[in-house]
Amino acid sequence: MSTSKNNNKMKFSTFLIFLIGALGGLLFGFDTGIISGASPLIETNFHLTITETGFITSSVLVGSAIGALCIGSLSDHYGRKRLLQWSAVLFLIGSALSMFAVGFVSMIIARIILGFAVGAASALTPAYLVELADTKHRGSLGTMFQLMITLGILLAYVSNLGFLHHNLLGVRDWRWMLGSALIPSLLLFFGSLILPESPRYLVKHGYISRARNILHKLRAGTSDDPDKELAGIEKLMSKKQGGLKTLFKIATPSILITIGLMFFQQFAGINAVIYFLPQIFIKSFHFATSDSIWISVGVGIVNFVSTVVAYKIMDHFNRKSVLIFGSIVMTVSLGLLAILNYTLSPSSTAVPTIILIMIYIVGFAVSWGPLVWVIMNEILPFSVRGVGAAIGSATNWICDFIVSQTLLTLLTFFGNNVGGPFAIYAILSFISMFFVIFLVPETRGKSLEQIETNEINRFHRKHAETK
Ligand code: BGC
Repeated sequence: MSTSKNNNKMKFSTFLIFLIGALGGLLFGFDTGIISGASPLIETNFHLTITETGFITSSVLVGSAIGALCIGSLSDHYGRKRLLQWSAVLFLIGSALSMFAVGFVSMIIARIILGFAVGAASALTPAYLVELADTKHRGSLGTMFQLMITLGILLAYVSNLGFLHHNLLGVRDWRWMLGSALIPSLLLFFGSLILPESPRYLVKHGYISRARNILHKLRAGTSDDPDKELAGIEKLMSKKQGGLKTLFKIATPSILITIGLMFFQQFAGINAVIYFLPQIFIKSFHFATSDSIWISVGVGIVNFVSTVVAYKIMDHFNRKSVLIFGSIVMTVSLGLLAILNYTLSPSSTAVPTIILIMIYIVGFAVSWGPLVWVIMNEILPFSVRGVGAAIGSATNWICDFIVSQTLLTLLTFFGNNVGGPFAIYAILSFISMFFVIFLVPETRGKSLEQIETNEINRFHRKHAETK
C-alpha cells in the first residue's frame, strides 16, 4: 500500500514518458480492432470472397507473429528506443498503404507490414515499460501497455461507427477508418524521438553515466534509490547477452511459463469476443448488424474502463492472486453462459449472454489482459529478455490466430450455439487457475535484479531438482 503520498508521487514528465512509451499498445489495439468494422465494406468494394476477407483479418496476426520473432535479438542489440522508432515508421507505411490499397493483394501487403509493426511493438513496449519502471509502480506502469491496447480497440470501434457510410471528400468510409491509424503512428514516431533509452540497455553497452542520469530523472519522487539500482544493474549486466540457445540453457522454466501465460490468455477466448462479437450475435441471436456493432462498442468501453481499474489497483495486490481471481470470474461467467445457451431458447438468452460477456470482459481486463505482458518481462533474465519476449509475443499471436481461425467453424459445428465454443474457453480458463497456482512465481514488490538473482534462480533450481 502507498505510504507517504508526496514521497511516492511520480513527476508528470516521467508519467508522460510512460504514456508515450506505451503508444505502441494503442496501435496494437487499433489495428486489430479496426478490421471488424472495415472488412465487410472492403469485401463489397473489392468484390472479395469470404476466405479473402478472412485473410485480410488474419494477415495482421501472421505478420505480428513474424514481427515479434524478428525483433527479439535486434532489440537486445540496437536498444528498445531505436526499434520503437523503426516500428513507428512501419506503422506509418502500413497505415498509409492500407488506406490507399487498390485491391486484395495490396491490402494484404499493407496488413502484413502493419502486422510486423504490431508484433514488434508487442515484444518491445512491455519490456521497455517494465525496465523503465520503479519497483513499486512496475505493475501499474506495465499495465499501461494494456490500457493503450484497450483504448486502441475502443477508438477503432468508435472510428468504425463514426466513418460508416460517410465518404468524406469523396474518399470511401473504410479508407478513413484504416487511415485514421496514421494519427497515433505519427504520435509514436515523434514521441519516440524524445523517449529515453532503457537504462538497463545502456549499462549493458557501457553508457554508465547516461544510464545514471536517466535513472535519477525517472526515480525523482519515488522511493527507489537510483544509485543502488544502478549498482544492482551493473552487477547483473556483466553477464553476456544471449540468444535462443542461451535462453533455453539458462531460462527454460521462465520461457515455458511465458509460453503458458500467453497460451492461457488467448485460449480464454478473448478475441472470439473482441473480433467476432457482432457476427456471433447476428448468427446466434439474429440481431441486426447495427445493433450488434453497438454491443461491441459496449464491450470496448467495459474493456477499457476495467483496464483503468486494473491500472489503479495493480500495485496493491499480488500478481498471482489477481490472475487466479480473473480465472475464476472467466470460468464462472463463460460456464454459466454455456449452460444457459444449452438449456434456454435463443430469444431468452440474448440479454443474459450480453451481461455474462461483460462480466467475463471485466474478469479478463483486470487480470490476464495486462498481467501476462508484465510478468513475462519480469521473469525473463535481462541477458535473454529481448529474445524471450519475442517468443512470448509470437506465441500470443499464434494462439490468437488459432482461436480466430477456429471460432466460426466451431460455432457452425455447435449448430450456431455460442455455448459450444465458450464452454471450451471456460474449461481452459479453469485449467489456467492451476497453472498459476503451481507454476507462476510471485514478482510483486521485488526489483528486476532481485527477481533475477533470487526468485527465478530459486525457481529454476527447484525445477532442476524435481526433474
Ligand atoms: C491481448 C489481445 C486482446 C486484448 C484485449 C491483449 O492483452 O493480447 O489479444 O485483443 O488484450 O483487450
